[in-house]
Amino acid sequence: MIDFHAHILPNIDDGPSSIEESVQMLKSLKSQGITDIVLTPHYYCLKESIDIFVDQRDKSFEALVEALADNDFSFTLGSEVLLHKNLFLNPDLDRLKIGNTNYMLVELNLAGNIEQTLYNIEQLIYSYNIIPIISHVENYSYFKRVPNTIIDLIELGCLIQINTCSINNLNRCFIQKLIKHNFVHLIGTDCHNCSTRKPVYREFAQFLDKKGLGWFLNYAKENGANVLKNNRVRIKEPIPFKRSLIF
Ligand SMILES: [Fe+2]
Repeated sequence: MIDFHAHILPNIDDGPSSIEESVQMLKSLKSQGITDIVLTPHYYCLKESIDIFVDQRDKSFEALVEALADNDFSFTLGSEVLLHKNLFLNPDLDRLKIGNTNYMLVELNLAGNIEQTLYNIEQLIYSYNIIPIISHVENYSYFKRVPNTIIDLIELGCLIQINTCSINNLNRCFIQKLIKHNFVHLIGTDCHNCSTRKPVYREFAQFLDKKGLGWFLNYAKENGANVLKNNRVRIKEPIPFKRSLIF
């Protein structure tokens, strides 16, 4: 399976603060059946320039690879980019994309209005030739109130990612609904460390199997393979929700 969202690189964001912890996280992921990892440290445009971020990310990656005695993971460098209007001060955002693809993992800030968010997403797509992958869509309460906004994002061309660890929190029910409605395309562990935000995958897969949603794992894997090859993803038609999920 491909993990599309992971904070495993050491000493770069709020992920692991030592290489040893990164290595432990990788061991855990391997034992749970993850074979490919997209490394996605946070990028905040208000905090640093893309030059500085990419330089730190590459150094962190180099240090990690050096520390791995034997590595049979396939790694791809990426980032988790917080959507903000100042991003668009950069003439290009290519180095924030996932590997050599046109895909980019995008974290939303829904504290503002949704129109502004959709406008910024359109800017990424039409002005920067980026295909946004919206990270951990279940974490935004806005989407529980107005779930069909996710269809708007999909129709614009976005892909949708959920966190595997959401089976262990209040979003457990929500992610099942999102999967059943064909609102989700990719998964990520969004792991940050070995304790409070550790890698969870096996439990997620078992949970989906038990709920009769095992098909989704193959679907997410196939979608992931297409993203990494920079192919278009063949998505299932989303089924609209009839009502809000929050009353
Ligand atoms: Fe994250």
